[in-house]
Amino acid sequence: MDPFLNPYAPGAGAPPPELAGRDELLGKASIALRRIASGRFGRSIILTGLRGVGKTVLLNRIRQDAEAAKIITVRIEVPEGRSLPSLLVPGLKSAILKLHRGKAAANLALRGLQALAAFVSAMKVKYSDVEVSLDIEASSSSSITTTLDEGLSELFQIVGAAAKEKETAIVLFIDEIHVLDEKQLASLIMALHVVSQDSLPITMVAAGLPQVPSQMGEAKTYAERLFEFHHIGKLDHDAAIQALVVPVEKLGVRYTKGALEEIIEHTAGYAYFLQEWGKHIWDIAEASPITTENAKDATSEALIDLDASFFRVRFDQLTPMQKRYLRAMAELGSGPHASGQIAAVLNKRVTHLGPVREQLISKGLIYSPSHGETAFTVPLFDSFMKRMMKEF
Ligand SMILES: Nc1ncnc2c1ncn2[C@@H]1O[C@H](COP(=O)(O)OP(=O)(O)OP(=O)(O)O)[C@@H](O)[C@H]1O
Ligand SMILES: [Mg+2]
Repeated sequence: MDPFLNPYAPGAGAPPPELAGRDELLGKASIALRRIASGRFGRSIILTGLRGVGKTVLLNRIRQDAEAAKIITVRIEVPEGRSLPSLLVPGLKSAILKLHRGKAAANLALRGLQALAAFVSAMKVKYSDVEVSLDIEASSSSSITTTLDEGLSELFQIVGAAAKEKETAIVLFIDEIHVLDEKQLASLIMALHVVSQDSLPITMVAAGLPQVPSQMGEAKTYAERLFEFHHIGKLDHDAAIQALVVPVEKLGVRYTKGALEEIIEHTAGYAYFLQEWGKHIWDIAEASPITTENAKDATSEALIDLDASFFRVRFDQLTPMQKRYLRAMAELGSGPHASGQIAAVLNKRVTHLGPVREQLISKGLIYSPSHGETAFTVPLFDSFMKRMMKEF
């Protein structure tokens, strides 16, 4: 069918034509944020899940809903190697400016910006990447402690107090939060804890890989009481069908039952894969209804595409030993697997493989769902490894 009209959106953070299966979570997030904005208690929300399950899309959607409810949002993605202060300062600056629209609020704006200027000059000592032009001097009354722990808490208190005065909330939307190092994560959690104790309306909605809850627990033991963790998984059968069917229905096209079942079997309901299969099948099919045969052709093409891109970019960053470790995991199936079992497949001792496992965790390819267990962060990576490496 006409590729120009192809409705599917395979990509990173690309809004899907139909956001299937997430209504309950969107409802909960909306209630939590509106509670915080109105001065009631609400926990910050953390979305965790494997690669491509739809965390970024959800985060963006919750953010749009928050903005529609007149909440001030700050969007941050954490890249490798950047400090938390350098990531926070530009967004907080525009949040403060938004907070203080209108003449009556000019004084509040000045206080907020002075506090931010004080934070920048305090953090510059340690974090050389902090940069922002504020056109304002830090006043002596708003001096900020130079440790990130204290400094960030003080800044959040000042900015939070201003948000409260304006009867709104500031919500930080942080994507890829697992990339933050433990100390900076601990400072962020502590600052959020301080403002929550004072009932100040600053909170966070974050997304990251499945190791985030344990990273946060290690950074601060009280993290699990401060945050509400939601595991984002694959779509269930009905939601997966909805994700495929609704976008084409609008264009007068339908699927046969067999075609849908073929796609669901191969994608296992993972959001990104559903978009990939959808895109291929639309281009392959010549007319409605889309048939099982079309779906089988789409499976071959989608796998060729994924093997050359989505999976391949991850494979290419690996050393030969890291590849062997992942191949051994794949031998055991989709996982999770006990470290001892993986070592047995490779005929090595668990301790000997410790460093490789750590490297793969820090590259974000595997994680530890529970003590001594290892699992892939990328869905269907086990079958890819088997296709790539017949032997190991
Ligand atoms: N609920 C959904 N229904 C249908 N498609 C979805 C849904 N959520 C996400 N998608 C699609 O899945 C793909 C991946 O989404 P997204 O980038 O948000 O995943 P992610 O979990 O953030 O991945 P990563 O961990 O790699 O950052 C996108 O193409 C998006 O359009
Ligand atoms: Mg993402």
